[in-house]
Amino acid sequence: MREKIVAGNWKMNCDIQEMKTLLNDLKEKDFNDGVKVMVAPSFTNLYLAKEILNDTNIEVAAQNMHEAENGAYTGEISAPMLTSLQVKTVILGHSERRSIFNESNELLASKVKSALAKGLKIIFCIGEELEARKNNKHVEVVKKQLSDSVFTLTEEEWKSITLAYEPVWAIGTGETASPQQAQDMHTGIRKMIADTYSSATAEKVSILYGGSVKPNNAKEIFAMQDVDGGLIGGAALKAEDFTQIINSF
Ligand code: G3H
Repeated sequence: MREKIVAGNWKMNCDIQEMKTLLNDLKEKDFNDGVKVMVAPSFTNLYLAKEILNDTNIEVAAQNMHEAENGAYTGEISAPMLTSLQVKTVILGHSERRSIFNESNELLASKVKSALAKGLKIIFCIGEELEARKNNKHVEVVKKQLSDSVFTLTEEEWKSITLAYEPVWAIGTGETASPQQAQDMHTGIRKMIADTYSSATAEKVSILYGGSVKPNNAKEIFAMQDVDGGLIGGAALKAEDFTQIINSF
């Protein structure tokens, strides 16, 4: 039985007041059993989120981290800084990090190693751009993203990995992948893991779908056999919408 996870990636949104409101709104909500709920606030809001959600089952994750432990890296945040806040999970490889901040598969491999070395769990994002999808190269692109980064890990290390398949053309666009497109890619990813490691490991890895998941489409996406949850952007900024998505399981 794979873990079901719905994670809200709040990206670069919410000042401290807005964050307080959203966290307190979320705290009041009831979620269905059997789904792990996570939120990833900006770095400046992490401490507040940990405090407000302290007595809840909502887990707080980080959106990114630097691969070094400490040092002269102005503006960066390290794994030990996250673990010192009791943050247990970090999102790595989000397409916005890849495309806007030029994060390569190789750099991500090093961030992954560094996060694992400090005991962090990882939500590792992969996904193709529209051009690749149009040219039927989406499977190839995703395979390379995995091969050059997380397929260098040991099978044991995969216990700390959750994947998020996010087709770039579906992020923030309102255009979501069809449930079947999500299912096909998730099955393909699971086969890649099975071929690289074992089917036992492949069956255990939770693979989330991300890209314009909304209250009105979450149910049909989450109903797909190989979709184990979602990484939610825009819709996670409203406690009501986010809750509806979580309770679509
Ligand atoms: O990390 C979340 C994804 O980028 C999805 O964002 O739900 O706004 O399309 P979205």
